[in-house]
Amino acid sequence: MEAHTGESSKFALITGASSGIGEATALRLATEKFGLLLTARRQDRLESLAKRCLELGAKSVPVRKLDVSDRSQVDDFFSDPKLLPLFSKMHVLVNNAGLAKGVDKMSSASMDDWQVMLDTNVVGLLAVTRQALPHIIKNRGHIVNLGSVAGRWSYPGGAVYSATKAAVRAVTEGLRMDVQGTGVRVTNIAPGMVETEFSDVRLGDEAAAKKIYEGMTPLSAADIADCICWSLSRPAHVNIQEMIVFPTDQAGIGYVHRG
Ligand SMILES: NC(=O)c1ccc[n+]([C@@H]2O[C@H](COP(=O)([O-])OP(=O)(O)OC[C@H]3O[C@@H](n4cnc5c(N)ncnc54)[C@H](OP(=O)(O)O)[C@@H]3O)[C@@H](O)[C@H]2O)c1
Repeated sequence: MEAHTGESSKFALITGASSGIGEATALRLATEKFGLLLTARRQDRLESLAKRCLELGAKSVPVRKLDVSDRSQVDDFFSDPKLLPLFSKMHVLVNNAGLAKGVDKMSSASMDDWQVMLDTNVVGLLAVTRQALPHIIKNRGHIVNLGSVAGRWSYPGGAVYSATKAAVRAVTEGLRMDVQGTGVRVTNIAPGMVETEFSDVRLGDEAAAKKIYEGMTPLSAADIADCICWSLSRPAHVNIQEMIVFPTDQAGIGYVHRG
């Protein structure tokens, strides 16, 4: 059975590659000699990441500015004639772009924040997946979606973020059924606390974000990149449906041991 890593002719498209889990996954796949197509809104970050990926052995690393929550940008991206040869080699899609905004309870939370989370985490993921699917099906490829433990267990101030990640889980499950028989694999990676820019983005306050991880050892972005790459590297007949990964210091949402 064919493994999906270590083959230089293969391309992976990663959304939200400019930081955190997306960036770590790009670096990890670079060491496995993948070609990479890296996207996010911050193109300067992608350009310096691309240089590091090439140094690590990636075959080629084009980058594109892409806001997944903007439907017309997604449509233009997938119909860019310069990118079509890459799409035809695309075996892996990592739907990683996502975010949480705010921690207010529903009675006082911002509708605008809800809209951004829904548009990015759900509608954006759907738009990219829909456009990528014909290529992924043709190549008997693999789609990895970034869910979250929040998609299983909600928490105060997290209802809408949790709803978006529950949607990612549901979409992953349904898609797996829709592509049955094509050889395509679909995986949901559901991490607990990972120290990235996630909490900075959520709180808009670097010091408050740092406090979240105080006295405990969170997961690193590289830990989750490992999980993603392990799922990709299974033989073609093995489909990892879901991985729920907590740091040892986090027994559940809200159950954090601080030494
Ligand atoms: N950190 C955690 O504790 C944790 C736990 C469970 C799940 N997750 C999930 O893991 C994924 C990655 O998060 P992370 O922890 O690595 O956070 P991060 O460091 O903030 O990275 C998020 C990435 O998403 C991109 N992004 C955000 N909105 C976007 C948009 N509209 N269009 C395109 N790209 C967009 C960002 O790039 P630009 O700003 O440059 O666009 C960035 O590269 C997310 O889906 C998140 O929900 C994180």
